[in-house]
Amino acid sequence: MAYQNLLTQLKDGIFYITINRESKLNALNIATIEEINQVFTEVYDNKDIKGVILTGAGSKAFVAGADISEIAQLNEMHARKFAENGQAVFEKIENCPKPVLAAINGFALGGGCELAMACHLRFAAENAKFGQPEINLGIIPGYGGTQRLTQYVGKSKAMELTLTGNMFSAQEALAWGLLNYVYPQAELLEKAEAFMQQLTAKAPIAMAQIISSINAFYGLENGYQTEANAFANCCRSQDFKEGTSAFLEKRKAQFQGK
Ligand code: COA
Repeated sequence: MAYQNLLTQLKDGIFYITINRESKLNALNIATIEEINQVFTEVYDNKDIKGVILTGAGSKAFVAGADISEIAQLNEMHARKFAENGQAVFEKIENCPKPVLAAINGFALGGGCELAMACHLRFAAENAKFGQPEINLGIIPGYGGTQRLTQYVGKSKAMELTLTGNMFSAQEALAWGLLNYVYPQAELLEKAEAFMQQLTAKAPIAMAQIISSINAFYGLENGYQTEANAFANCCRSQDFKEGTSAFLEKRKAQFQGK
């Protein structure tokens, strides 16, 4: 199947998906989220696909977030739908019966960090930078970030990282439990491929059962609903208008608390 914003390639059972909006640092607009939804239907249905490697086009970004030019247009009602839709697509990745590995080749910010966290495994390039910077736009992570980041790094770090919005390095992400491995950028894809080749030789039914069993450890459906509601609440504030306008106008935001 052909996509506008994704490149795909199937090689020896491994399906490569590349988010391909390099001029926007692979930011996830709504059309790309929908294509990710469709491509994972293909992953679920195609028996020749044994595992997935998900990466970003270019050497600078995995995904620099949801597309702020679209977020800036959201009102409260649309914001809730926006968050629920993204959460559902990322849940489809998390529940994929075939292993999904994020090869994080650069910035993984906001929705990009959330996308990586929805995958089963995360390998990153040494230059990758992570963060949940939504607070700087007057919003919160809305694609499952408040829930999954807490699962990976624990409550204290998740609070720190989402409240400050500060970026963190691949080495820090590794130390805090977010990543499986870090490699020089030039080796990232070959390491991911070698690892995935190990998995494609394993018993597919058992792998699917491991994935669903480990996912069952986190019974967090209400947490995701709380997140979508909180995301929508932010999107009726003046601060949200100010934060997103400031990014698009390339200036510093001045928040008023209303
Ligand atoms: N949404 C929409 N556009 C984005 C984007 C996003 N999340 N992230 C980057 N872009 C666009 C920029 O607007 C710019 O477009 P332009 O060339 O048409 O002006 C282009 O991608 C390149 O980004 P730029 O900011 O010029 O690169 P940089 O190297 O100076 O900075 C970042 C890189 C990642 C630090 C910076 O782009 C950034 O902070 N992005 C937003 C991160 C974020 O807040 N994500 C969470 C969103 S909820």
